[in-house]
Amino acid sequence: MALKSTNPTTTNAWSKLQAHFEDIKTEHLRDLFSSNEKRADELTIKWDDFYADFSKNRITKETLNLLVELANEVDLKDAISKYFEGEIINATEGRAVLHTALRAPKKAKVLVGGEDVIPEVHAVKKKIEDFTNAVVNGIHKGYTGKNITDIVNIGIGGSDLGPAMVVDSLQFYKNHLNTHFVSNVDGDHHKEIIKNLNPETTLFVIVSKTFTTQETLSNANSIRAWFLESQPEEAVSNHFVAVSTNVDSVKAFGIAEENIFPMKDWVGGRFSLWSAVGLSISLALGYQNFESLLEGAYKMDEHFKTADFNANIPVTSALLTVWYNNFFKVESEAVIPYTQYLNQFATYLQQGIMESNGKSVDRSGNKVDYQTGTIIWGEPGTNSQHAFFQLIHQGTKLIPADFIGFIESLYGNKDHHDKLMSNYFAQTEALMNGKTETEVLQELNSQNLSQEEIDVLLPFKIFDGNKPTTSLLIKKLSPESLGKLIAMYEHKIFVQGIIWNIYSYDQFGVELGKQLAKSILKELQNDAISSHHDASTQNLVDFYKKNC
Ligand code: F6P
Repeated sequence: MALKSTNPTTTNAWSKLQAHFEDIKTEHLRDLFSSNEKRADELTIKWDDFYADFSKNRITKETLNLLVELANEVDLKDAISKYFEGEIINATEGRAVLHTALRAPKKAKVLVGGEDVIPEVHAVKKKIEDFTNAVVNGIHKGYTGKNITDIVNIGIGGSDLGPAMVVDSLQFYKNHLNTHFVSNVDGDHHKEIIKNLNPETTLFVIVSKTFTTQETLSNANSIRAWFLESQPEEAVSNHFVAVSTNVDSVKAFGIAEENIFPMKDWVGGRFSLWSAVGLSISLALGYQNFESLLEGAYKMDEHFKTADFNANIPVTSALLTVWYNNFFKVESEAVIPYTQYLNQFATYLQQGIMESNGKSVDRSGNKVDYQTGTIIWGEPGTNSQHAFFQLIHQGTKLIPADFIGFIESLYGNKDHHDKLMSNYFAQTEALMNGKTETEVLQELNSQNLSQEEIDVLLPFKIFDGNKPTTSLLIKKLSPESLGKLIAMYEHKIFVQGIIWNIYSYDQFGVELGKQLAKSILKELQNDAISSHHDASTQNLVDFYKKNC
């Protein structure tokens, strides 16, 4: 059964939220805290090794109750069942959305078109496990009998960002294999990566759900040609494997059936790292760590499915985005991890969040007249404090931010970790409280300045505060906790899409540019004349051709 279609702005809860917003929009977080000493506890959700403090958001208990009312009015519960049970909720592509089935245990049962998909999920996992063990333990060797030392993942979008982010984030847990990622069709990109590699000891993993993506196929062909400059054709089977739903095209590329790791069309690219797309993760970290990543995600799935909405981390987090996006009219949200390991996390989330919810037509096919997907961005703290925090503190824009921190560091350097985390806590406190005129005056008065100097400086030193943050504290960065964190954002994306009444799992918006690029490429390479460009594009094409 299809997802229901309800314009959220026509619900009773929306009208109540609008009225409630008018009541509390100018309330300062400082005052919300001083008027309720239980606020921090009331607005914190503790689950497993996650501590999620939502209290530094511009909400009250009533805000959350009304947001939950909104979730109930659009029947979020029904949508969650359909999501997990393999209903065709990606209606525009006629597909189920079942990345959750990839981390479900063997005993689970998930039907797609009447067929239980779990046995096949576990069969593919077994294939990943066996291949990983063979490569890591030196049983699967290169053609000349040498052990594999390097893995190159060739893919783009969901076939790159997830595996690249996870391998980088969990590098502490890595084995001896060096892992590289080639994504951009920019020929300099793959050249820089392969230039120091030995073809005799390198394994290439070509990842493309469709096996039609220009970037991936161009890179795969160029790398294969480079490989064949020094190796015979028969060596390809030892050095190239592929992950795809399109087995025929992979075979046509020259990869033997036993070297193909299949995936299903009900796994969306940006949610695919749990599938065979995660082969590079398994190779880099070892299969057991890949399994722990999946187990973590499964635990978050269970939390999401079973916890009441007001004790549910992904639901609360998603409802807060709706609150800021649709009532405060904020345009963007920041994600600030206080660990360098999560350096690529915001980039990864950009595809997940913006490709999913960057939509403007609702589930009834009507243009929406309210805001949907937010812009997501971020960098690790403390580096970002020295880059863009000025704007969050004293700029004109309201930017809600998720702060993600860990209680333990991985190498156990307590001094550095305390410094790192003191910055995390200090920033959320500073963003919330700001600095009042009285506080600034007190500070300036203690600095031996003239009254004139104080008067000049005073307005520039005031921080309004009242900048919302969510503090996520997790015990330790591990494959399991990262699995939970990623799944948390996946479910957040889902909930937002349900409330905004859009389809989150297609991505037609990326097609137009791809089509135009194909025809422009012909013009660049064949001297074909085109008359359909606008004057600006034509000038650019002509200038490029004349000068290259
Ligand atoms: O950017 C569009 C997109 O279709 C993504 O959704 C997908 O992750 C990426 O291209 C790569 O696609 P494929 O895995 O089919 O090569």
